[in-house]
Amino acid sequence: MALMRYNVEAHEAMQNLEEEMKAKVEEYLKKRDISIVRKDDVENAIKVIKKPIVEVKRASHYKPVAKEYESDIIIDHKRDVTGKSRTKGSAKDFVRYFQNRFKRMRSLFGPHTSEYSEMLIGDLSKANGEKVSIIAMVSEKRESRSGNTVLSLEDLTGKAVAVANKNDERVMDKIALVTKEDTIRVYCKVKDKLLLVEDLEFPDVRERVVHPTIEKDVAVAYLSDIHLGSRFCLEDMLNRFMSWIREPSTKKELAGKIKYIVVAGDVVDGIGIYPGQEKELSVKDIYGQYELFDKLLEELPDYIDVVVSPGNHDAVRRAEPMPALKESFFSNKKPYLVGNPGVVHIEGFKHLIYHGTSMDSLVANIRHLTYHKVEPIMREYFRRRHLSPIYGTNPIVPEEIDYMVMDKVPHVFHCGHIHKNGQALYKGVLMLNSGTFQDQTPFQIKQGHIPTPGNIPVYNLNSKKLSIVDVRSL
Ligand SMILES: [Fe+2]
Repeated sequence: MALMRYNVEAHEAMQNLEEEMKAKVEEYLKKRDISIVRKDDVENAIKVIKKPIVEVKRASHYKPVAKEYESDIIIDHKRDVTGKSRTKGSAKDFVRYFQNRFKRMRSLFGPHTSEYSEMLIGDLSKANGEKVSIIAMVSEKRESRSGNTVLSLEDLTGKAVAVANKNDERVMDKIALVTKEDTIRVYCKVKDKLLLVEDLEFPDVRERVVHPTIEKDVAVAYLSDIHLGSRFCLEDMLNRFMSWIREPSTKKELAGKIKYIVVAGDVVDGIGIYPGQEKELSVKDIYGQYELFDKLLEELPDYIDVVVSPGNHDAVRRAEPMPALKESFFSNKKPYLVGNPGVVHIEGFKHLIYHGTSMDSLVANIRHLTYHKVEPIMREYFRRRHLSPIYGTNPIVPEEIDYMVMDKVPHVFHCGHIHKNGQALYKGVLMLNSGTFQDQTPFQIKQGHIPTPGNIPVYNLNSKKLSIVDVRSL
């Protein structure tokens, strides 16, 4: 390790510290292997060391019912990229990735309408004049000069062009939702080399999902986008939430049932996520930011289990699927660490956790979606059965298996990312966006995003009742 030196300002800042704090700061900085310490580094260290982010009264005679039960969590490792990423990102890898995606997507469609015969694109030359159904990936969507919509389609046997007539309102309504890279089924009439679209469908969810029935009277709280280390992190709100969990003075029954906490990414604000972010950070080193989270977890009662999936601000690769956070960030309470997306069975309730970074590309490409309402965005993932349907703006790592395919429908689908709390049922799936613990940032002001911090969905797995806890009321 190189010898640690302080610049003049840092040296002065150190001289003003009491001996005990000074020793702690030195130890903290040594661990970071900083060769020339600046005043900023000293201030960072003090912020992280000073105290746990929350001040919690120690519990007295409070007896939460969740404490009486054993926990039941199973991570679905098959659907998690953690430890399995091998790809080099070559052109060959991308071809293999899209083939895997297509094969898996194709299997999600239900039976086709019998009036049409199912066919591969490669066999279309024999089908002139026939009514056929084709499952294909959309490589391009455009409007023709006469106002019709033209789709370039591809399957593993070839390419075809499909045209939807602008006067067919029913088809036009459906085609308005189609984006590049969607896998769809088109019902059409073959005319010479063209496919005239008569109908189309997405894989979507066909059967209603039924939630399990359990004996234990326990609940799950859903968080995301805490953004520790950001100047805009609402620490007082976190403090209220933690105090409520430890020793509630209101909504006691509900607090006592919380046995699990799931975090859908952006635990910390990260470093270098966007230009100028440094000015918005209160803790400017990534280890310090995770140390704040580690302290937060330590303050949670032992009987509560925590599941953490990363987001685009966390210390993992930026492209999806993302592997789980490193265990070395956690020295106290060890959370269950899953990838993004991650699948976890909690008391038999299948949870699909996905941060939601691809929401940006959905909002940009699908006309009826806006950042003001998250439920319609989440619904689009189910229509497509894919968590990053549009290739391009949201980077994808071409793994051997496409982990973004939603091959099994979950009971609970938990996202974050756009800092907007929202919930809805779709075919029995409880869709949740947990909101945030970050105040509106200058970037969000510019974009016109209005976050809804401090709203925490809590799902009672026994009564199947969802409550939204507003931490300001605690
Ligand atoms: Fe976030």
